[in-house]
Amino acid sequence: MANRIHPSVLNANLASLDGEIRRIPSSAGIHIDVMDNHFVPNLTLGLPVVECLRNNHRDAFLDVHLMIENADVHAPAYAELGCESVTFHLEASHAPIRTARQIRSLGSRASIGLRPQTPIEPLGDIITEFDMVLIMTVDPGFGGQKFLDGMLGKIRRTREIVKNSGQEIWIQVDGGVSESTIEQVADAGADVFVAGSAVFRADDPDAMVRSLKDLADA
Ligand code: DX5
Ligand code: ZN
Repeated sequence: MANRIHPSVLNANLASLDGEIRRIPSSAGIHIDVMDNHFVPNLTLGLPVVECLRNNHRDAFLDVHLMIENADVHAPAYAELGCESVTFHLEASHAPIRTARQIRSLGSRASIGLRPQTPIEPLGDIITEFDMVLIMTVDPGFGGQKFLDGMLGKIRRTREIVKNSGQEIWIQVDGGVSESTIEQVADAGADVFVAGSAVFRADDPDAMVRSLKDLADA
């Protein structure tokens, strides 16, 4: 599948979200980081704000990344809102298969997130329940952290597992993706690239998204 760039609005001006989203190409997915101050030590936004974004950006691909506890309880509500993709963390779920099936039955793509220290291998047995795997390449919670080079091997192993599954499952990488790291991330096998500070701290976010896409495609 073609590479996709999903700017994370975590590093945008959160008090002017609508305007910030208009600064990136409409073809880009919008990565929305939902945090609850428990799963990660930060608090961002939740269902009511995502609902407003859905109403204001009908044609956008909304990629919700839930960094919250009790994912099985909360994740399906984001699918009900009509978000195109809902990621919940394996570490926050007691019933990942049931939750993924619920998300899919509501018409959204189901995605499973892994912290840097969570191995990919145990997921191999259930990976076909998901449309995407999110590999964190920083500790979740904050933008602007340095990419963890040690994750490149995990991305490669994930690509291998996805290949062996015979299904088209997207591999998303989140954390420290920039013009200087995206090529090696693409080379390792990722195809969905989250970029927060690289995009929203750039003078021209639209041009930065295009540049990241070109580098990923190269
Ligand atoms: C961090 C979030 C990321 C964050 C990435 O926990 O999941 O989506 O916004 O920010 P950068 O690209 O600056 O590392
Ligand atoms: Zn994220």
